[in-house]
Amino acid sequence: MKYKIALLPGDGVGEEVIQQAKKCLEAVEEVFHHEFIFQIGVIGAKAINTYETALPKDTLRICKNSDAILVGTIGNHKFNNNPVAEVRPEHGLIQLRKELGLYANIRPLRIFPSLVDKSPLKADIIKGTDMLIFRELSSGIYYQNKEDATKAQSASDVCKYTEEEISRIAHLAFKAAKNRNNRVTLIDKANVLNSSKLWRKVVRDIAQSYPDVALEYQFVDHAAMKMIAAPNRYDVVLTENMFGDILADESSMISGAVNTLPSASVGEKQALFQPVHGPYTELKDKDLVNPVATILATAMLLEHFRLFEEAMAVREAVDKSIAKGIVTKDLDANSQYGTNHVGDFIANHILGHDDRINMNNE
Ligand code: IPM
Ligand code: MN
Repeated sequence: MKYKIALLPGDGVGEEVIQQAKKCLEAVEEVFHHEFIFQIGVIGAKAINTYETALPKDTLRICKNSDAILVGTIGNHKFNNNPVAEVRPEHGLIQLRKELGLYANIRPLRIFPSLVDKSPLKADIIKGTDMLIFRELSSGIYYQNKEDATKAQSASDVCKYTEEEISRIAHLAFKAAKNRNNRVTLIDKANVLNSSKLWRKVVRDIAQSYPDVALEYQFVDHAAMKMIAAPNRYDVVLTENMFGDILADESSMISGAVNTLPSASVGEKQALFQPVHGPYTELKDKDLVNPVATILATAMLLEHFRLFEEAMAVREAVDKSIAKGIVTKDLDANSQYGTNHVGDFIANHILGHDDRINMNNE
């Protein structure tokens, strides 16, 4: 089959991690006889430098015209000194989500057995953790009333949700739970917020159509504690945009290996995949960044194409690299392997080649 994949490397180490992911996709192409047509677009700080916008029209066109989008990393700390700048790198991503109607951000949390010691939590606590977070991505406090809010002497951000916005992501979460451990935890602040009360009502009604799935509710402050105290008690987590932004980052620390974690943002038609980690500007072009999160984002991309065997081949190759200690220095300070070694190992493993590594990058 033919698939069009938009590659948006973005800023910092984005280019390097996308290159490794592309290697793996090309290995999949060869082994499974597919055709992947790559189109490259600029986004983020790099786009601002040339086009004065974080999401140039051409990039949007490429994305709209593709079957899936793979993003590297976006951002540059030079913009952090001016938090109220009109144009910021991450606006590219926010605009893209809106333009493409990406309403659900999906973040799996998986602990690699050989990396259990990396977690800041005790092995006993993280044992068995397998969480899938569904964060609403297209609405809530991120998108309402933005134009008026900063012009006056006061400022506001409104959290507004419609039944439709809640129900479409809730269905995704329940369907996912059916194929997992049959549990959905809705996280909200329904003791205070009206929008949360609507979430509870809509999600409770939807739960009726999934009799095998147990639904529980948690207030977000309590959930922030529980996620650290007992992360392994969660299966599917469902929450609104802002709470999801915070809880997803909190959860990513539980593994102690944030550079292995991917995420997907999906809508009716389009889907975008990216690593959870940021641009690590200081690591750029040093061959030090860990490509695993982006490679696992491509596994999610393949699953989105319903290429399950292909996705499994990528996952198995990643498992193998981690189990064998073919990892970058963030996971093993004594490691002699760089970004390219790890990418090559994984791509070669997909190709079925033997597991030797060329230490000279030849
Ligand atoms: C994320 C990021 C974005 C968000 C930023 C870059 C706007 O933190 O994808 O979680 O807050 O949604
Ligand atoms: Mn975030």
